[in-house]
Amino acid sequence: MNVLVTGGAGYIGSHAVRALIEAGHTPIVLDSLEHGHAASVGEAELILGNVLDHELVARACRQFSIEAVMHFAAYIEVGESMVDPIKYYANNTMSVLSLLKTMQENGVGKFIFSSTAATYGQSEKVPIAEDAPLAPINVYGHSKLIVEQVCSWLARQTEFGFIALRYFNAGGAHPDGTIGEDHNPESHLIPLVFQTALGKRKSISIFGDDYDTPDGTCVRDYIHVWDLAKAHVKAMEHLANGGASGAFNLGAGNGHSVREIIECARRASGAAIPAEIKPRRAGDPAVLVADPGRAFETFNWRPEISDLKSIVGSAWQWHSTHPDGYADAEL
Ligand SMILES: NC(=O)c1ccc[n+]([C@@H]2O[C@H](COP(=O)([O-])OP(=O)(O)OC[C@H]3O[C@@H](n4cnc5c(N)ncnc54)[C@H](O)[C@@H]3O)[C@@H](O)[C@H]2O)c1
Repeated sequence: MNVLVTGGAGYIGSHAVRALIEAGHTPIVLDSLEHGHAASVGEAELILGNVLDHELVARACRQFSIEAVMHFAAYIEVGESMVDPIKYYANNTMSVLSLLKTMQENGVGKFIFSSTAATYGQSEKVPIAEDAPLAPINVYGHSKLIVEQVCSWLARQTEFGFIALRYFNAGGAHPDGTIGEDHNPESHLIPLVFQTALGKRKSISIFGDDYDTPDGTCVRDYIHVWDLAKAHVKAMEHLANGGASGAFNLGAGNGHSVREIIECARRASGAAIPAEIKPRRAGDPAVLVADPGRAFETFNWRPEISDLKSIVGSAWQWHSTHPDGYADAEL
């Protein structure tokens, strides 16, 4: 299939581009490069521009006979979303309405959407299944939930199929070591831990060590970015084969604590990685773990390399060979 990949020069999108090529599809990337990296796109076609540019998206749909859209383009900083909500509703919600309208006008009716576990908020029940209450506690999560709801109505009322993929914590890098995580600013635990290992930060902060978890630190469900990327291809093929629309968790189905991640990173890198205990952050649930059963059954997909050692090991392979991220790749 010919697939428009918005945000395809970002961390997860660039891995999806590789997975699409590997599965025999043709990705066309549309990215503003506000946060992405041209070098991460490799051999795929890259259109430089904004999802909000109706004319540009329409032209891309026609020129490349686009059959499906994978939509990764968004802002991703939860903290920033609370300080500047309009920025997030404009880019994560409003721009999607524009994209969906352009798709409709150009006869593109298949949509794979990057959603998030943040749509659940503070779930009472763990593991979290898709029928858990959707009650985001931040603007970022809400900006994504609105899109899911719009998509549900479109699927009911029009010729439109969508899969919303609610990611838990993406981590790791492509197994061949050529693409990986390079966010600026960086707020994800694994890259921050390795920045500490590389001496770019003095220490890694642990926010709270008095949670009701085995070692007192927060527990999260980590999914290898390459497993995540391959799930997108499966989800798109499910839609193409007439499968039903809906929302699906993408996680490994088990949790790892902050201390476990740091320990694993120490083993992978051989570095001491000093850690500092800080007070809890508001709104951080003790445990967030997915029930990924619906995706397993519907897409016939399983995470293959989402054990902690593979996630952290592949991340270290990327960070140790690209200490300055894509600035090193582009040299
Ligand atoms: N990283 C995670 O663990 C995680 C977890 C849950 C959900 N998500 C979602 O996955 C998606 C990808 O996340 P990521 O970590 O790869 O982020 P990223 O910042 O690396 O990638 C996003 C890309 O989108 C581009 N972009 C942003 N707004 C744009 C616009 N209006 N037009 C064109 N391009 C635009 C950026 O330049 C960037 O290349 C996001 O939608 C995010 O909300 C990520």
